[in-house]
Amino acid sequence: MLRIAVLVSGGGTNLQAIIDKIASGDITDTEIAGVISNNENAYALTRAKKAGIPAMVVSPKNFENREVFNRALLDAVDSLNVDLIVLAGFLVVIPEIMIDAYTNKIINIHPSLIPSFCGTGYYGLKVHEAALSRGVKLVGATVHFVDKGTDTGPIIMQKAVEVKNGDTPEVLQRRVMEQAEWVIMPAAIDKIAHGKVKVTDGIAIVED
Ligand code: GAR
Repeated sequence: MLRIAVLVSGGGTNLQAIIDKIASGDITDTEIAGVISNNENAYALTRAKKAGIPAMVVSPKNFENREVFNRALLDAVDSLNVDLIVLAGFLVVIPEIMIDAYTNKIINIHPSLIPSFCGTGYYGLKVHEAALSRGVKLVGATVHFVDKGTDTGPIIMQKAVEVKNGDTPEVLQRRVMEQAEWVIMPAAIDKIAHGKVKVTDGIAIVED
């Protein structure tokens, strides 16, 4: 059984997709041990409670400095005794101490086809605003392992989504979520639960 911690900051639709796909049997041999949010007002916390999943808040606001917060975040994750940390719209930079402790055991969903529209400053709606400003016709999402760079870790899965005439950032964001994020994040977790993802020389290989 793969025990996962899901880290969230906002609406939690990716968390919901994981909850739903465990319930439907699309993800098997996986259990959500807990949800951690840096934002006490995140709707994701309500989703966790409705699903009967333990949820906790670890907010930088409640700690004297970043280093103390980073330690508290790592302690919170450690307390859940998990095999995999899933960043599902978690908008905090992951501390190096956590990456060292969980090398190739942290995955993130990013709302673009990496290496496009990623790195510092590209998160949430900003990614879709940038894609529309550039006029690209294909966008998408990426699940990747987290390393010490921003959106630079080994890529596990990607899915492309078409841009349509008249798209607003909000409309495009929703289509990328529905057609890509809520599909590939659960699929990547299921592959990891079944030992089908290996990283060699910085490249992730995913078995069929
Ligand atoms: C998602 O679109 C996710 O890809 C994005 O934040 C949103 C969270 O939505 N993450 C990033 O931009 C990370 N760089 P959710 O809370 O409804 O899952």
